[in-house]
Amino acid sequence: MAAAEFAAWERHFEAERDHRAAGPDIGWESGARLSPAVRASIRRFRLGEDGDGADLFAKADAAGDPYYAAAVRLFEDEEHNHARLLARLLEAGGATASAGHWSDTVFARMRRSAGLRGELLLLMVAEVVALRYYRALRDGSGDPLTAEVARRILADEERHVPFHCARLRAFVAELPCAARRPFLAG
Ligand SMILES: [Fe+2]
Ligand SMILES: [Fe+2]
Repeated sequence: MAAAEFAAWERHFEAERDHRAAGPDIGWESGARLSPAVRASIRRFRLGEDGDGADLFAKADAAGDPYYAAAVRLFEDEEHNHARLLARLLEAGGATASAGHWSDTVFARMRRSAGLRGELLLLMVAEVVALRYYRALRDGSGDPLTAEVARRILADEERHVPFHCARLRAFVAELPCAARRPFLAG
């Protein structure tokens, strides 16, 4: 694995964390107007953003690159921040977050039972769905606060996809030549 590549990713995530901390907070006091469909979708996505990263951290530690392991923790911090932003958005819209959904339990189990490569492939599916969702929420909700929250989350999600791709590329480089093409096709 290219340690220098993931040292750069760690610095990138740290810079984003510092930028978030220094930047202005969202104007929650303006409140949000959430239609029933948007409210329901935000509840579902908040659950997906709020996963437990302990298993992923253990797998990243075992992969042997401390820069990658540190970057994974910063990535997970961003996902938890998304859950926090969505909870605040629901609150600003006069709604409460939901406690859980069976599909998130199943997804978490699948992630836990997979190795690092399998978990990253599952995460990539979730990230690609998230990209489409937050773009739609930013452009189609018609509510300024919702659009601002979606814009901020989308900026992070657009970084997550190349981050996971970088690690998956490292897996491909470690495979024997004959196995690379089927893996990439998959
Ligand atoms: Fe997210
Ligand atoms: Fe993400």
